[in-house]
Amino acid sequence: MNTNRLSKTIEAALNAQITKEAHASQIYLSFAAWASSQGYAGIANFLFKHAHEERNHMMKILEYILKRGAKVEVTSIPNPPENPLNLYNCFEKVFGQEVENTKAIYKVVKKSHEEGDWATWNFLQWFVNEQVEEETLAMNLLDKIKIAGGENMSNMAQYSFDRDIENTSQEITPAQDVTTANP
Ligand code: FEO
Repeated sequence: MNTNRLSKTIEAALNAQITKEAHASQIYLSFAAWASSQGYAGIANFLFKHAHEERNHMMKILEYILKRGAKVEVTSIPNPPENPLNLYNCFEKVFGQEVENTKAIYKVVKKSHEEGDWATWNFLQWFVNEQVEEETLAMNLLDKIKIAGGENMSNMAQYSFDRDIENTSQEITPAQDVTTANP
């Protein structure tokens, strides 16, 4: 009896998303190493933590595929891009990478909708929300850098940004999810 509860299309799309999340993790890892080598300890710490978060996303999908009785395919991960040129460029690339990941997730959501695979559609809503948070976080950091001078940030502004980001939460709670218990 076939106990695989995912179609071949969804199985392949989710496996491709595993590789995308792993790639995202490698990008954050390489940017974190770059930030550390430039002396930005706070930014490096933030990016290292985020690399870990992306790996968790990968695991979440991997576990879902297994739970649905389907086959996990672990593949090679593409190389991360070139190191950023400066802080502004670093967060520009971070934002761009998150937008690309959102597009990839939307494609899988669309496929699950077309197939009426509501379990997968429902599972993916977590990722849809997560991408809103991640894009917002990257956008906010990019805005801060722009205000602080963008590509021409002074050393003092870079120092302050690095110190501030050390304490930046990895999560943003969207206003619609705010409650009195979780302000
Ligand atoms: Fe797993 Fe940043 O998306």
